[in-house]
Amino acid sequence: MKVIKTKTEMRRIVEQAKAAGKMVGVVPTMGYFHDGHLELMRRARAECDVVVVTLFVNPTQFAPGEDLEAYPRDMERDTEMAESIGVDYVFAPSVDEMYPGGSEGSVTLVQVEGLSSVMCGCSRPTHFRGVATVVSKLFNIVPAQKAYFGQKDAQQLAVIRRMAADLDFPVDITGAPTVREPDGLAMSSRNMYLAPVEREQAVFLFKALQAARGLIESGERNSRSIEESMEKVFSGAPLVDVEYIAICDSIYLRPLEILSGEVLIAVAARVGRARLIDNMQFKIE
Ligand code: PAF
Repeated sequence: MKVIKTKTEMRRIVEQAKAAGKMVGVVPTMGYFHDGHLELMRRARAECDVVVVTLFVNPTQFAPGEDLEAYPRDMERDTEMAESIGVDYVFAPSVDEMYPGGSEGSVTLVQVEGLSSVMCGCSRPTHFRGVATVVSKLFNIVPAQKAYFGQKDAQQLAVIRRMAADLDFPVDITGAPTVREPDGLAMSSRNMYLAPVEREQAVFLFKALQAARGLIESGERNSRSIEESMEKVFSGAPLVDVEYIAICDSIYLRPLEILSGEVLIAVAARVGRARLIDNMQFKIE
């Protein structure tokens, strides 16, 4: 496995592989790998000839006061883990390499309207602009035919799919299922912020989603009733400060009163220092 630091070298490697008829897959990440990342890499490894993992903690998706400095980093551990999966290249550029004019002076930004301002966009109004901007850049630097993202970040996935379609990126995007801890907590690099007592209650995001799933399986289609049952679950977890419960369609993220079609139920909550998100998706005939 090779670690690549420059955009020019990375692009050249991918262009050469494609010219030789190879299928290239990219897994964009911010590092500090857990099993969720490894699953994306395994999937890419199974489906592609050449696998590139990008590892870049992108400053433009953090607002002032968010956890950019505290965000966990461990390059050595990450490269070992990627190598154990059989990844071919880790693209790990510096901030200067990605944003030569400085990340704050970055003047071309990619904004996916609508999808970026709901749900997490209410408390993080510039977040998805930063994500769409860096992922557009990564799709140009690593012009792979396939890209892999986790479904845990359902809103991010919807934004990236829209951005890729609207800007004509010729890349096939796969959303891979959320990987969970044995008790159901969705894996996240930010789980390491949780104190033991917070960790115990963090699982209530999953419990609330399970309650929603139970109701849907028993035929409930009214979103208000589902939301109420989720709120009831959260009342048993005083350390979980719920930011939102969203029940919407999974492509346009439009709220649904009555569940039908591709439904996304998503939650965000603060638990101590950590801001956690989770979701489940349902296909309702
Ligand atoms: O999901 C992430 O890790 C990041 O938001 C991404 C997609 C790598 C962009 O920085």
